[in-house]
Amino acid sequence: MVLYESLQGHTRQAAELIGGACQQAGAEVSVREVTNLDLHELAEADLLFVGTWVDGFVLFAHRPGRAYKFNALPPIDGMAVVAFNTYAIYPGGMMKKFVKLLRGKGADVIMTRQLKRNRLESEVAPFVKEALGLLVS
Ligand SMILES: Cc1cc2nc3c(=O)[nH]c(=O)nc-3n(C[C@H](O)[C@H](O)[C@H](O)COP(=O)(O)O)c2cc1C
Repeated sequence: MVLYESLQGHTRQAAELIGGACQQAGAEVSVREVTNLDLHELAEADLLFVGTWVDGFVLFAHRPGRAYKFNALPPIDGMAVVAFNTYAIYPGGMMKKFVKLLRGKGADVIMTRQLKRNRLESEVAPFVKEALGLLVS
């Protein structure tokens, strides 16, 4: 399952590319905005990709975009989670905060990846391959 928050569409595009790459690898995938969660799908998921964008002042004060939307997630105790974000120039310490938030929900964060918004096409395929590889290894 792929859950995302997106303001201008880049993270949605990343989420859709991730979903497409998972499907190509033979997985059954659902890609949803984090506010449009389906609890049944969530309960069935073997792996959860969770992504948002970087909100900061380019050089400092980086944080997960609209983190409150992820705070509203139900507990995901023990679920294997791959956290990702899109960014424009420099993501700073955003991912550390995002991982902390997800761990606070009980997530088992097994991998993280920061995707540059103008390189999504080339960065997603190797990222997904690596993430799915963690499930079988
Ligand atoms: C309010 C705001 C603050 C941002 N701050 C940063 C930043 O500090 N560093 C950075 O690399 N990108 C920053 N960005 C760019 C976004 O993180 C980037 O464009 C991202 O891909 C947007 O995802 P979206 O299209 O899904 O909203 C900022 C964007 C916005 C709207």
